[in-house]
Amino acid sequence: MTDPVLIEELKTLVEPGKVLTDAESLAAYGKDWTKHFAPAPSAIVFPKTVEQVQAIVRWANTHKVALVPSGGRTGLSAAAVAANGEVVVSFDNMNQILDFNATDRTVVCQPGVVTAQLQQFAEDKGLYYPVDFASAGSSQIGGNIGTNAGGIKVIRYGMTRNWVAGMKVVTGKGDLLELNKDLIKNATGYDLRQLFIGAEGTLGFVVEATMRLERQPTNLTAMVLGTPDFDSIMPVLHAFQDKLDLTAFEFFSDKCLDKILGRGDVPAPFETRAPFYALLEFEATTEERADQALATFEHCVNEGWVIDGVMSQSEQQLQNLWKLREYISETISHWTPYKNDISVTVSKVPAFLADIDAIVSQNYPDFEVLWYGHIGDGNLHLNILKPEALSKDEFFEKCASVNKWVFETVEKYNGSISAEHGVGMTKRDYLEYSRSAAEIEYMKAVKAAFDPNGIMNPGKIFAV
Ligand code: MLT
Ligand code: ZN
Repeated sequence: MTDPVLIEELKTLVEPGKVLTDAESLAAYGKDWTKHFAPAPSAIVFPKTVEQVQAIVRWANTHKVALVPSGGRTGLSAAAVAANGEVVVSFDNMNQILDFNATDRTVVCQPGVVTAQLQQFAEDKGLYYPVDFASAGSSQIGGNIGTNAGGIKVIRYGMTRNWVAGMKVVTGKGDLLELNKDLIKNATGYDLRQLFIGAEGTLGFVVEATMRLERQPTNLTAMVLGTPDFDSIMPVLHAFQDKLDLTAFEFFSDKCLDKILGRGDVPAPFETRAPFYALLEFEATTEERADQALATFEHCVNEGWVIDGVMSQSEQQLQNLWKLREYISETISHWTPYKNDISVTVSKVPAFLADIDAIVSQNYPDFEVLWYGHIGDGNLHLNILKPEALSKDEFFEKCASVNKWVFETVEKYNGSISAEHGVGMTKRDYLEYSRSAAEIEYMKAVKAAFDPNGIMNPGKIFAV
């Protein structure tokens, strides 16, 4: 734990009342949405200005105190967990939209701006912020950048990385850097902005970000299609991609639907039950587009790839269909799931999934296994639910023993052990399945350049 005398010194760097040490705050701010590690921070500090962030980082360097950045704490890899007496730096009080440029279509955000706040701001300006996911109501821009958040629209719009025009960061040494200056074209050597995106706060803190906006989509329309088996999902994707520019292509298994319907507040998409469901979305800009979607649906039925389906006819129906997919994560959190967030290139998905499915059914015969994810971009979420009779520790231990085979398969297919949730602490011991030893050495050297004292979110991405 950090020396109480140092915490008193920390208090002088920020406004009165902006350092908390009560048990409730420590428990709340010391963790994200993962349940693997018990939170144990020393204090929570709430800076309001860039200068205060710099002062905190310099103080931490002087006294060798570890800092953990904290945003909406919706992360799923324990990257924002403080389990070892660290000081948590919360960006809750740096939550303002500072500027908007209609010509450049950019918004300058403080790191604590909530994703939904930016989405709403864009909408009010007749524009669109396209990075979207179920936790958009609480996740913050700084955290999205730290994990290079993806979500449900990546197939069309890409990850958070694509939407960061420029950033101000405070490095682990306390220097303030302005990265890329919001330029579209800038060929002046290393793009340090991209290094900080997805760095999980291990190089420094994002203290301001200029985010790009896009034109608003027109008449978004969703279809949910039931498929007779997993192998039918990819031909459905290709059939629709041939005809339409999709804004999303997601999938979930019937077990996921069971859990969603069990909530009692989401209507079933149609009466027929199917082993898997695809949820796709497109802009029905003209009647011909909608007709094309229906014709493609019929083609898929004739080919035997789809057994039933529905297309949204209103905004309400669109939202109800999305709930089938977006509510899965929150709904199953009740069963303390062991989460996997793996990806391969789209062409490898069918063979990869067959291999993983065989491993899972062989090794988890007694566990409930749920599949869902962003299959249109190759990202699959494999969730194992904890049986009530097992303790959390026993359950996670059993799951970890199967990880080896799952990740060996990921490696075999040249995939990623973490497509969008980040490495944090839950995946750090498996990094070598996705990154070569030489690459990891270079990554560590990059960290050492920005954070020579190792005070920035230590133990995340790599062990200390
Ligand atoms: C999702 O796709 O729903 C999110 O990544 C959260 C999760 O995987 O549970
Ligand atoms: Zn996801």
